[in-house]
Amino acid sequence: MNSGNFNRREWLKKGALSLGALAFMPSDIWSASVLEAQNNNSPFLFNSSGVFNEFTPPFLDKEEDLVILRANENPYGPPPKSAAAFQKEVFNGNRYSWKTLTNLKEKIATKEGINPDQILMGPGSSDLLEKVAMVLFQNGGNVVSADPSYMSLIVVAKSVGGKWKSYKLLEDSQHDLDAMEAGIDKDTKLVYICNPNNPTGSITDAKKLKDFCSRVSEKVPVFVDEAYIELSKKGIKDSMNSLVAEGKNVIVARTFSKIHGMAGLRIGYVIGKKETLDSISEITRGGMGITGPSIMAATTSLDDEAFLMSCKTKITEARNFTLSYLKENNFSYLPSETNFIIFEIPMDGKEFLKKIYSKKVAVRAFKFWDKNWCRVSIGTTEEMKKFTNAITEIFA
Ligand SMILES: Cc1ncc(COP(=O)(O)O)c(C=O)c1O
Repeated sequence: MNSGNFNRREWLKKGALSLGALAFMPSDIWSASVLEAQNNNSPFLFNSSGVFNEFTPPFLDKEEDLVILRANENPYGPPPKSAAAFQKEVFNGNRYSWKTLTNLKEKIATKEGINPDQILMGPGSSDLLEKVAMVLFQNGGNVVSADPSYMSLIVVAKSVGGKWKSYKLLEDSQHDLDAMEAGIDKDTKLVYICNPNNPTGSITDAKKLKDFCSRVSEKVPVFVDEAYIELSKKGIKDSMNSLVAEGKNVIVARTFSKIHGMAGLRIGYVIGKKETLDSISEITRGGMGITGPSIMAATTSLDDEAFLMSCKTKITEARNFTLSYLKENNFSYLPSETNFIIFEIPMDGKEFLKKIYSKKVAVRAFKFWDKNWCRVSIGTTEEMKKFTNAITEIFA
Protein backbone atom coordinates (compact mmCIF):
# COMPACT_ATOMS: atom_id res chain seq x y z
CA MET A 1 0.00 0.00 0.00
CA ASN A 2 2.98 2.33 -0.28
CA SER A 3 2.87 4.93 -3.02
CA GLY A 4 6.13 6.72 -3.89
CA ASN A 5 7.86 7.99 -0.78
CA PHE A 6 4.70 7.74 1.24
CA ASN A 7 5.06 5.03 3.85
CA ARG A 8 1.63 4.46 5.30
CA ARG A 9 2.83 2.35 8.19
CA GLU A 10 5.36 4.90 9.45
CA TRP A 11 2.90 7.68 8.90
CA LEU A 12 0.17 5.94 10.85
CA LYS A 13 2.56 5.24 13.67
CA LYS A 14 3.76 8.84 13.84
CA GLY A 15 0.57 10.74 13.34
CA ALA A 16 -1.24 7.72 14.64
CA LEU A 17 -4.67 8.94 15.48
CA SER A 18 -4.63 12.59 14.55
CA LEU A 19 -7.67 13.92 12.76
CA GLY A 20 -5.65 14.11 9.56
CA ALA A 21 -4.79 10.44 9.83
CA LEU A 22 -8.40 9.50 10.40
CA ALA A 23 -9.56 11.54 7.44
CA PHE A 24 -7.28 9.45 5.27
CA MET A 25 -7.94 6.13 6.94
CA PRO A 26 -9.50 3.34 4.95
CA SER A 27 -13.07 3.61 6.18
CA ASP A 28 -13.26 3.74 2.45
CA ILE A 29 -10.77 0.95 1.85
CA TRP A 30 -12.79 -0.53 -0.94
CA SER A 31 -13.37 2.49 -3.15
CA ALA A 32 -9.84 3.85 -2.68
CA SER A 33 -8.39 0.45 -3.50
CA VAL A 34 -10.66 0.14 -6.55
CA LEU A 35 -9.25 3.34 -8.03
CA GLU A 36 -5.68 2.35 -7.26
CA ALA A 37 -6.13 -1.14 -8.73
CA GLN A 38 -7.92 0.24 -11.81
CA ASN A 39 -5.12 2.78 -12.39
CA ASN A 40 -2.51 0.05 -12.11
CA ASN A 41 -4.58 -2.25 -14.32
CA SER A 42 -4.27 -4.88 -11.63
CA PRO A 43 -6.29 -8.11 -11.92
CA PHE A 44 -6.65 -8.15 -8.15
CA LEU A 45 -8.12 -5.48 -5.96
CA PHE A 46 -7.01 -7.35 -2.91
CA ASN A 47 -4.41 -10.06 -3.02
CA SER A 48 -4.01 -11.70 0.36
CA SER A 49 -1.17 -13.76 1.72
CA GLY A 50 -3.64 -16.51 2.50
CA VAL A 51 -6.15 -18.09 0.16
CA PHE A 52 -8.29 -15.04 -0.53
CA ASN A 53 -8.17 -12.66 -3.52
CA GLU A 54 -10.64 -10.13 -4.82
CA PHE A 55 -10.87 -9.13 -8.48
CA THR A 56 -10.76 -5.49 -9.55
CA PRO A 57 -14.07 -4.29 -11.02
CA PRO A 58 -14.03 -2.44 -14.37
CA PHE A 59 -14.18 1.34 -14.51
CA LEU A 60 -17.58 2.84 -15.41
CA ASP A 61 -18.09 6.44 -16.55
CA LYS A 62 -21.50 6.63 -14.96
CA GLU A 63 -23.38 4.43 -12.55
CA GLU A 64 -26.88 5.90 -12.73
CA ASP A 65 -28.54 2.94 -14.41
CA LEU A 66 -26.50 0.28 -12.62
CA VAL A 67 -28.21 -2.42 -10.52
CA ILE A 68 -26.02 -2.21 -7.43
CA LEU A 69 -25.62 -5.59 -5.74
CA ARG A 70 -22.04 -5.22 -4.55
CA ALA A 71 -22.02 -3.82 -0.99
CA ASN A 72 -24.65 -5.85 0.88
CA GLU A 73 -26.91 -2.84 1.30
CA ASN A 74 -30.58 -3.06 2.22
CA PRO A 75 -32.74 -1.89 -0.72
CA TYR A 76 -35.66 -1.00 1.57
CA GLY A 77 -33.99 1.45 3.92
CA PRO A 78 -33.84 3.80 5.57
CA PRO A 79 -37.07 3.24 7.51
CA PRO A 80 -39.49 6.12 6.73
CA LYS A 81 -39.82 7.03 10.43
CA SER A 82 -36.03 7.25 10.69
CA ALA A 83 -35.81 9.43 7.59
CA ALA A 84 -38.34 11.79 9.20
CA ALA A 85 -36.36 11.83 12.48
CA PHE A 86 -33.18 12.54 10.52
CA GLN A 87 -34.75 15.51 8.72
CA LYS A 88 -36.15 16.95 11.94
CA GLU A 89 -32.80 16.72 13.73
CA VAL A 90 -31.01 18.69 11.01
CA PHE A 91 -32.36 21.86 12.61
CA ASN A 92 -30.39 21.09 15.80
CA GLY A 93 -27.23 20.89 13.71
CA ASN A 94 -25.61 23.89 15.44
CA ARG A 95 -25.16 21.76 18.58
CA TYR A 96 -22.90 18.80 19.30
CA SER A 97 -24.95 15.67 19.76
CA TRP A 98 -23.72 14.35 23.11
CA LYS A 99 -27.13 14.21 24.75
CA THR A 100 -28.84 12.39 21.89
CA LEU A 101 -25.88 10.01 21.70
CA THR A 102 -26.17 9.29 25.42
CA ASN A 103 -29.87 8.52 24.95
CA LEU A 104 -29.10 6.16 22.09
CA LYS A 105 -26.44 4.38 24.15
CA GLU A 106 -28.93 3.88 26.97
CA LYS A 107 -31.38 2.36 24.53
CA ILE A 108 -28.73 0.05 23.08
CA ALA A 109 -27.56 -0.93 26.58
CA THR A 110 -31.09 -2.05 27.47
CA LYS A 111 -31.41 -4.03 24.26
CA GLU A 112 -28.03 -5.77 24.71
CA GLY A 113 -28.39 -6.33 28.47
CA ILE A 114 -25.26 -4.33 29.37
CA ASN A 115 -24.32 -0.92 30.81
CA PRO A 116 -23.99 2.21 28.62
CA ASP A 117 -20.29 2.42 29.55
CA GLN A 118 -19.79 -0.89 27.75
CA ILE A 119 -20.59 0.69 24.38
CA LEU A 120 -18.47 2.57 21.86
CA MET A 121 -20.32 4.30 19.03
CA GLY A 122 -18.84 5.14 15.64
CA PRO A 123 -19.73 6.31 12.14
CA GLY A 124 -20.30 2.75 10.96
CA SER A 125 -18.79 -0.35 12.51
CA SER A 126 -15.85 -0.09 10.05
CA ASP A 127 -14.69 2.92 12.00
CA LEU A 128 -14.59 0.83 15.18
CA LEU A 129 -13.01 -2.19 13.50
CA GLU A 130 -10.26 0.12 12.29
CA LYS A 131 -9.82 1.92 15.63
CA VAL A 132 -9.55 -1.36 17.52
CA ALA A 133 -6.91 -2.50 15.03
CA MET A 134 -4.97 0.79 15.25
CA VAL A 135 -4.85 0.76 19.01
CA LEU A 136 -4.17 -2.95 19.55
CA PHE A 137 -1.54 -3.40 16.85
CA GLN A 138 0.41 -0.16 17.17
CA ASN A 139 3.24 -2.15 18.78
CA GLY A 140 2.94 -5.22 16.57
CA GLY A 141 1.43 -8.57 17.51
CA ASN A 142 -0.81 -10.81 15.48
CA VAL A 143 -4.51 -11.18 14.77
CA VAL A 144 -6.00 -14.64 14.33
CA SER A 145 -8.91 -14.86 11.90
CA ALA A 146 -10.50 -16.97 9.19
CA ASP A 147 -9.61 -16.83 5.53
CA PRO A 148 -11.64 -15.79 3.62
CA SER A 149 -13.19 -13.24 5.93
CA TYR A 150 -13.98 -9.54 6.17
CA MET A 151 -10.72 -7.63 5.83
CA SER A 152 -11.27 -4.16 7.35
CA LEU A 153 -9.75 -4.88 10.75
CA ILE A 154 -7.02 -7.09 9.33
CA VAL A 155 -5.92 -4.60 6.66
CA VAL A 156 -5.55 -1.86 9.28
CA ALA A 157 -3.81 -4.20 11.76
CA LYS A 158 -1.30 -5.04 9.04
CA SER A 159 -0.90 -1.38 8.05
CA VAL A 160 0.24 -0.41 11.54
CA GLY A 161 2.64 -3.33 11.93
CA GLY A 162 0.53 -6.31 13.01
CA LYS A 163 0.62 -9.76 11.44
CA TRP A 164 -2.30 -11.81 10.19
CA LYS A 165 -2.55 -15.49 11.13
CA SER A 166 -5.25 -16.86 8.86
CA TYR A 167 -7.11 -20.16 9.16
CA LYS A 168 -9.02 -21.54 6.22
CA LEU A 169 -12.74 -22.04 6.82
CA LEU A 170 -13.86 -25.65 7.15
CA GLU A 171 -15.47 -27.58 4.26
CA ASP A 172 -18.93 -26.55 5.51
CA SER A 173 -17.73 -22.88 5.59
CA GLN A 174 -17.82 -22.62 9.37
CA HIS A 175 -14.86 -21.23 11.27
CA ASP A 176 -12.15 -23.75 12.10
CA LEU A 177 -12.31 -22.88 15.78
CA ASP A 178 -9.93 -25.67 16.86
CA ALA A 179 -7.21 -24.54 14.46
CA MET A 180 -7.74 -20.91 15.43
CA GLU A 181 -7.45 -21.70 19.13
CA ALA A 182 -4.31 -23.76 18.53
CA GLY A 183 -2.89 -20.85 16.50
CA ILE A 184 -2.98 -18.39 19.40
CA ASP A 185 0.55 -17.65 20.58
CA LYS A 186 2.30 -15.22 22.90
CA ASP A 187 2.08 -12.44 20.27
CA THR A 188 -1.65 -12.81 19.60
CA LYS A 189 -3.46 -9.60 20.53
CA LEU A 190 -6.89 -10.41 19.14
CA VAL A 191 -9.04 -13.11 17.57
CA TYR A 192 -11.40 -11.76 14.91
CA ILE A 193 -14.52 -13.76 14.00
CA CYS A 194 -17.00 -12.51 11.45
CA ASN A 195 -20.32 -14.29 12.10
CA PRO A 196 -22.13 -14.67 9.77
CA ASN A 197 -19.00 -14.42 7.68
CA ASN A 198 -18.38 -12.06 4.79
CA PRO A 199 -17.73 -12.91 1.90
CA THR A 200 -19.08 -16.46 2.37
CA GLY A 201 -22.44 -15.70 4.04
CA SER A 202 -22.04 -18.78 6.21
CA ILE A 203 -22.68 -18.94 9.93
CA THR A 204 -20.71 -20.79 12.60
CA ASP A 205 -22.68 -22.80 15.14
CA ALA A 206 -23.60 -20.44 18.00
CA LYS A 207 -23.09 -22.99 20.77
CA LYS A 208 -19.60 -23.93 19.55
CA LEU A 209 -18.71 -20.28 19.05
CA LYS A 210 -19.94 -19.34 22.51
CA ASP A 211 -17.80 -22.06 24.12
CA PHE A 212 -14.83 -20.93 22.05
CA CYS A 213 -15.26 -17.24 22.91
CA SER A 214 -15.80 -18.02 26.56
CA ARG A 215 -12.59 -20.06 26.81
CA VAL A 216 -10.34 -18.09 24.48
CA SER A 217 -11.28 -14.68 25.90
CA GLU A 218 -9.55 -15.73 29.13
CA LYS A 219 -6.31 -15.51 27.10
CA VAL A 220 -6.90 -12.80 24.48
CA PRO A 221 -9.84 -10.56 23.53
CA VAL A 222 -12.19 -12.03 20.93
CA PHE A 223 -13.82 -9.64 18.47
CA VAL A 224 -17.07 -10.96 16.96
CA ASP A 225 -18.31 -8.92 14.01
CA GLU A 226 -22.08 -9.43 13.83
CA ALA A 227 -22.89 -7.05 10.97
CA TYR A 228 -25.37 -9.59 9.51
CA ILE A 229 -26.61 -11.40 12.64
CA GLU A 230 -30.14 -9.94 12.46
CA LEU A 231 -30.53 -11.50 9.01
CA SER A 232 -29.56 -15.00 10.17
CA LYS A 233 -32.21 -17.67 10.80
CA LYS A 234 -32.19 -17.25 14.57
CA GLY A 235 -31.31 -13.53 14.49
CA ILE A 236 -29.78 -11.99 17.58
CA LYS A 237 -30.54 -15.12 19.60
CA ASP A 238 -27.24 -16.31 18.13
CA SER A 239 -25.40 -13.18 19.23
CA MET A 240 -22.39 -13.35 21.55
CA ASN A 241 -23.74 -10.34 23.48
CA SER A 242 -24.56 -12.46 26.57
CA LEU A 243 -20.82 -13.09 27.00
CA VAL A 244 -20.24 -9.35 27.23
CA ALA A 245 -22.97 -9.18 29.86
CA GLU A 246 -21.16 -11.96 31.75
CA GLY A 247 -18.00 -9.82 31.83
CA LYS A 248 -15.98 -11.83 29.29
CA ASN A 249 -13.35 -10.05 27.24
CA VAL A 250 -15.44 -10.31 24.09
CA ILE A 251 -16.16 -7.38 21.77
CA VAL A 252 -19.30 -7.58 19.64
CA ALA A 253 -19.71 -5.22 16.66
CA ARG A 254 -23.08 -4.22 15.23
CA THR A 255 -24.08 -1.86 12.45
CA PHE A 256 -27.11 0.11 11.30
CA SER A 257 -25.93 -0.36 7.69
CA LYS A 258 -27.58 -3.71 6.99
CA ILE A 259 -30.96 -4.69 8.50
CA HIS A 260 -31.64 -1.04 9.46
CA GLY A 261 -30.95 0.10 5.88
CA MET A 262 -28.74 3.06 6.79
CA ALA A 263 -25.38 2.34 5.18
CA GLY A 264 -25.05 5.93 4.00
CA LEU A 265 -26.02 7.42 7.38
CA ARG A 266 -22.93 5.86 8.99
CA ILE A 267 -23.66 4.51 12.42
CA GLY A 268 -22.50 1.43 14.28
CA TYR A 269 -21.29 0.32 17.68
CA VAL A 270 -19.26 -2.18 19.62
CA ILE A 271 -20.02 -3.56 23.06
CA GLY A 272 -17.37 -5.04 25.32
CA LYS A 273 -15.61 -5.01 28.65
CA LYS A 274 -15.39 -1.44 29.94
CA GLU A 275 -11.60 -1.58 30.46
CA THR A 276 -11.00 -2.87 26.93
CA LEU A 277 -13.22 -0.20 25.37
CA ASP A 278 -11.63 2.50 27.55
CA SER A 279 -8.23 1.60 26.14
CA ILE A 280 -9.64 2.28 22.66
CA SER A 281 -11.56 5.46 23.46
CA GLU A 282 -8.65 6.89 25.50
CA ILE A 283 -6.91 7.41 22.18
CA THR A 284 -9.68 7.65 19.65
CA ARG A 285 -12.67 9.44 21.24
CA GLY A 286 -15.68 7.36 20.27
CA GLY A 287 -18.79 9.02 18.94
CA MET A 288 -17.46 12.34 17.65
CA GLY A 289 -17.77 11.23 14.03
CA ILE A 290 -21.51 10.56 14.08
CA THR A 291 -23.94 13.27 13.07
CA GLY A 292 -26.99 14.17 15.19
CA PRO A 293 -29.47 13.31 12.41
CA SER A 294 -27.95 9.83 12.06
CA ILE A 295 -28.19 9.33 15.81
CA MET A 296 -31.89 10.20 15.75
CA ALA A 297 -32.48 7.97 12.72
CA ALA A 298 -30.83 5.05 14.53
CA THR A 299 -32.71 5.74 17.78
CA THR A 300 -36.00 5.67 15.89
CA SER A 301 -35.10 2.54 13.96
CA LEU A 302 -34.38 0.53 17.11
CA ASP A 303 -38.10 0.75 17.93
CA ASP A 304 -39.31 0.02 14.42
CA GLU A 305 -39.70 -3.76 14.78
CA ALA A 306 -42.29 -3.89 11.99
CA PHE A 307 -39.91 -2.31 9.50
CA LEU A 308 -37.01 -4.58 10.49
CA MET A 309 -39.19 -7.69 10.23
CA SER A 310 -40.54 -6.68 6.84
CA CYS A 311 -36.97 -6.16 5.55
CA LYS A 312 -35.95 -9.60 6.79
CA THR A 313 -38.99 -11.23 5.16
CA LYS A 314 -38.48 -9.50 1.80
CA ILE A 315 -34.72 -10.14 1.78
CA THR A 316 -35.31 -13.81 2.63
CA GLU A 317 -37.82 -14.12 -0.23
CA ALA A 318 -35.44 -12.53 -2.75
CA ARG A 319 -32.60 -14.70 -1.42
CA ASN A 320 -34.72 -17.83 -1.87
CA PHE A 321 -35.64 -16.75 -5.40
CA THR A 322 -31.92 -16.34 -6.23
CA LEU A 323 -30.94 -19.62 -4.57
CA SER A 324 -33.62 -21.49 -6.55
CA TYR A 325 -32.27 -19.99 -9.76
CA LEU A 326 -28.70 -21.01 -8.87
CA LYS A 327 -29.82 -24.52 -7.93
CA GLU A 328 -31.88 -25.02 -11.10
CA ASN A 329 -28.94 -23.86 -13.17
CA ASN A 330 -26.40 -26.10 -11.40
CA PHE A 331 -24.27 -23.39 -9.81
CA SER A 332 -22.55 -24.41 -6.57
CA TYR A 333 -23.19 -21.94 -3.79
CA LEU A 334 -22.37 -21.67 -0.12
CA PRO A 335 -25.16 -21.67 2.49
CA SER A 336 -26.09 -18.07 3.30
CA GLU A 337 -27.67 -16.58 6.42
CA THR A 338 -27.12 -13.03 5.20
CA ASN A 339 -28.23 -10.61 2.50
CA PHE A 340 -25.69 -11.95 0.03
CA ILE A 341 -24.83 -15.23 -1.66
CA ILE A 342 -21.52 -16.46 -2.97
CA PHE A 343 -21.39 -19.02 -5.77
CA GLU A 344 -18.78 -20.54 -8.05
CA ILE A 345 -18.37 -19.18 -11.56
CA PRO A 346 -16.76 -21.17 -14.36
CA MET A 347 -14.85 -18.13 -15.61
CA ASP A 348 -11.95 -15.88 -14.61
CA GLY A 349 -13.32 -13.37 -12.08
CA LYS A 350 -12.00 -10.28 -13.85
CA GLU A 351 -13.47 -11.38 -17.17
CA PHE A 352 -16.75 -12.13 -15.42
CA LEU A 353 -16.89 -8.67 -13.83
CA LYS A 354 -16.32 -7.06 -17.22
CA LYS A 355 -19.21 -9.02 -18.69
CA ILE A 356 -21.68 -8.48 -15.88
CA TYR A 357 -20.87 -4.75 -15.50
CA SER A 358 -21.46 -4.36 -19.25
CA LYS A 359 -24.97 -5.67 -18.54
CA LYS A 360 -25.31 -2.94 -15.92
CA VAL A 361 -25.20 -5.23 -12.90
CA ALA A 362 -22.54 -4.63 -10.23
CA VAL A 363 -21.44 -7.54 -8.04
CA ARG A 364 -18.11 -8.65 -6.53
CA ALA A 365 -15.79 -11.45 -7.64
CA PHE A 366 -13.26 -13.40 -5.61
CA LYS A 367 -10.78 -16.20 -5.95
CA PHE A 368 -10.27 -18.64 -3.11
CA TRP A 369 -9.90 -22.39 -2.67
CA ASP A 370 -8.61 -22.34 -6.30
CA LYS A 371 -12.04 -21.35 -7.58
CA ASN A 372 -13.60 -18.17 -8.96
CA TRP A 373 -16.65 -16.85 -7.12
CA CYS A 374 -19.33 -14.22 -7.57
CA ARG A 375 -20.75 -12.57 -4.48
CA VAL A 376 -24.13 -11.01 -5.11
CA SER A 377 -25.97 -8.87 -2.57
CA ILE A 378 -29.69 -9.43 -2.22
CA GLY A 379 -31.67 -6.54 -3.69
CA THR A 380 -35.38 -6.44 -4.49
CA THR A 381 -36.84 -9.44 -6.33
CA GLU A 382 -36.98 -7.27 -9.46
CA GLU A 383 -33.26 -6.48 -9.13
CA MET A 384 -32.51 -10.17 -8.58
CA LYS A 385 -34.39 -10.98 -11.81
CA LYS A 386 -32.12 -8.54 -13.68
CA PHE A 387 -29.15 -10.27 -12.04
CA THR A 388 -30.32 -13.81 -12.93
CA ASN A 389 -31.06 -12.70 -16.51
CA ALA A 390 -27.52 -11.32 -16.78
CA ILE A 391 -26.09 -14.57 -15.44
CA THR A 392 -28.16 -16.59 -17.91
CA GLU A 393 -26.87 -14.47 -20.81
CA ILE A 394 -23.24 -14.73 -19.65
CA PHE A 395 -23.21 -18.47 -19.10
CA ALA A 396 -25.70 -19.52 -21.80
C1 LIG B 1 -18.72 -8.07 8.10
C2 LIG B 1 -18.82 -6.60 8.02
N1 LIG B 1 -18.46 -5.88 9.08
C3 LIG B 1 -18.53 -4.55 9.08
C4 LIG B 1 -18.97 -3.87 7.97
C5 LIG B 1 -18.96 -2.39 8.01
O1 LIG B 1 -20.17 -1.83 7.96
P1 LIG B 1 -20.40 -0.31 8.34
O2 LIG B 1 -19.08 0.38 8.45
O3 LIG B 1 -21.22 0.25 7.24
O4 LIG B 1 -21.09 -0.33 9.66
C6 LIG B 1 -19.35 -4.57 6.82
C7 LIG B 1 -19.80 -3.88 5.63
O5 LIG B 1 -20.11 -4.41 4.60
C8 LIG B 1 -19.27 -5.98 6.86
O6 LIG B 1 -19.59 -6.73 5.81
